[in-house]
Amino acid sequence: MKNVKAFEDSVKLNQEAADLILAIAKKAVSVYGRFTIALSGGSTPKALYELMATEPYRSAMPWAETFVFWGDERYVAAATDDYNGTMATKALLSHVPIPEPNIYPVPTHLPLQEVAEAYEKEINDFFEGEPVFDLILLGVGDDGHTASLFPNSDALNEEDKLVVATTAPHKIAERITFTYPLINVADNVMFLVAGKGKADIMKEILNGEADKYPAQLVQPEGNLYWCLDRAAASKL
Ligand code: 6PG
Repeated sequence: MKNVKAFEDSVKLNQEAADLILAIAKKAVSVYGRFTIALSGGSTPKALYELMATEPYRSAMPWAETFVFWGDERYVAAATDDYNGTMATKALLSHVPIPEPNIYPVPTHLPLQEVAEAYEKEINDFFEGEPVFDLILLGVGDDGHTASLFPNSDALNEEDKLVVATTAPHKIAERITFTYPLINVADNVMFLVAGKGKADIMKEILNGEADKYPAQLVQPEGNLYWCLDRAAASKL
């Protein structure tokens, strides 16, 4: 089920996204006893993460039963500014009572060729061989990439591996990313898209030629939510 919602501004967008995350988390804990989420990077989700570090989410979220992974990461040292885990830690994880062992950062201290395999093993071990995330958060680049699945990259054709090393066509080139085999089995996938700079690509993705951009190939078995602010939805 594809669900597209445009909210009047980024404040409302983040409030609705946080409420949806809370609802998914509570349901997952009631059914499975835990909530598994893969965070996205970039700049868009920072305000959402900051919001979730405040009330009511700080108290309402089942942090002790929440397990955090990342859908993609840059191949840079952890705790540096370009590491997606750094932004999420500063904006959210260091402000909420989530146990440290519940957080699974991408092991970029390893040689690049080993990172993807190590993270995939960590994911498979955690999920005991059936890696179905309750929620995967994603963003969209203005070239239609999502996670670190960039146009014309080999990673788009990966049908077996769940995590691969890849390259981005810009400054932080070396990346690690979830692949479609992992993303598309998730119970819920949420795209969070904000700002007028994304209006053109959103028109292409939602109203244009099908399956042209990496973000369009995210077709989960579960629920697909497109959460946009009015600016990003202004050309739909
Ligand atoms: C990353 C992200 C990436 C991001 C998009 C949108 O590692 O950069 O995972 O996929 O979601 O590039 O980025 P912005 O939110 O900064 O526009």
